[in-house]
Amino acid sequence: MAALLCLFFSLLGLAVMGAVKNCHPQCRCEVESFGLFDSFSLTKVDCSGIGPGNAPVPIPLDTSHLDLSLNSITSISDSMLSGPGYTTLVSLDLSGNLISHVSPKAFSKLRYLETLDLSNNALEDLSDGCFTGLPLVELDLSENRFKDFNLDLLTTRAQDVPIMVDLSRNLLTSVSRKTPSHPLNIKSLMLAGNQLRKVPMLNGIPLQYLNLDGNLISSIDAGAFDSMTELVHLSLSSLSDLTLIQPGAFRGLKNLQVLDLSNNSRLKTLSPDVFSGLVSLQELNLSHNPVTPLSRTVFTQMPSIKSIALGPNVHCWKTHKQGQFHRQIGQAKPNDILTCDNAGMIL
Ligand SMILES: *[C@@H]1O[C@H](CO)[C@@H](O)[C@H](O)[C@H]1NC(C)=O
Ligand SMILES: *[C@@H]1O[C@H](CO)[C@@H](O)[C@H](O)[C@H]1NC(C)=O
Repeated sequence: MAALLCLFFSLLGLAVMGAVKNCHPQCRCEVESFGLFDSFSLTKVDCSGIGPGNAPVPIPLDTSHLDLSLNSITSISDSMLSGPGYTTLVSLDLSGNLISHVSPKAFSKLRYLETLDLSNNALEDLSDGCFTGLPLVELDLSENRFKDFNLDLLTTRAQDVPIMVDLSRNLLTSVSRKTPSHPLNIKSLMLAGNQLRKVPMLNGIPLQYLNLDGNLISSIDAGAFDSMTELVHLSLSSLSDLTLIQPGAFRGLKNLQVLDLSNNSRLKTLSPDVFSGLVSLQELNLSHNPVTPLSRTVFTQMPSIKSIALGPNVHCWKTHKQGQFHRQIGQAKPNDILTCDNAGMIL
């Protein structure tokens, strides 16, 4: 009788839960359907704060978003993220744990993973190639303990690439072993709040957003960002040791639109040539810096600038004074005027 009742209630339970089968009792699972006739659906599983004893957590098949934040997890083993349901993950949140160790193959089954949040953990290092083969677009490693950041983490080491060559037609003259198995597609990398002492070398990644706030970087050399030509947004704020930015530091950044240099309390001087090459820059944040005075030539380095924050109450913006008879959009530099709302402070 008891068994029958049990069966009855579990059947009922399944019916009430609707489409989400196999939801771990401590997690919250939901399915979002959209498209014509609900033809697309996304399964989101929130297992935040359920405690470390539960890993690995069984999750529904076809889960696309998984939140495992705030669970006091200390390490990620090879088997932890390999169960059914994990292979379809598009985003994974492991933030706010105590992770100090990640097994080299821990992420290897997540071959649809685009977003990975490992922020607020205790990582000092990751194994080379641990993200190999993942279509990662966004990677958040903020608030960890990285002392340096090595591009090998993101790329495959040459000897690791399995090559299959069909030599039956004998058309090949040489075979490269250097091709990564998956092209690197990371667009957003957050490394704020680590212990980096210099700007990491990140050539070969099409990065558009980079955040290095709150690291131990003391100087930024000429050409430090030369390889990051796709960068649109760069944040270099709250670098308490930063005393020097060399002329030409940003020279490769021809697509950069936003540059945050705020709250760098030891940055006393900035040569106008620091900003050379920033032809697309629209927003510059220099607030909470001891940098004074800035010469007017600083602004001629940045032909696209629209807004400059210079302090809590000082803000400059560029407006285009229209000609009386014709407008020349985007070209009429002599008609551009820079206005600051605290006259006489700097300009
Ligand atoms: C400014 O930087 C200091 C470290 O130099 C940091 O402690 C503080 O939180 C930062 N302030 C803001 C507003 O980001
Ligand atoms: C500039 O940076 C400061 C401090 O980090 C921040 O409070 C402020 O909102 C920023 N201003 C703009 C316009 O982004």
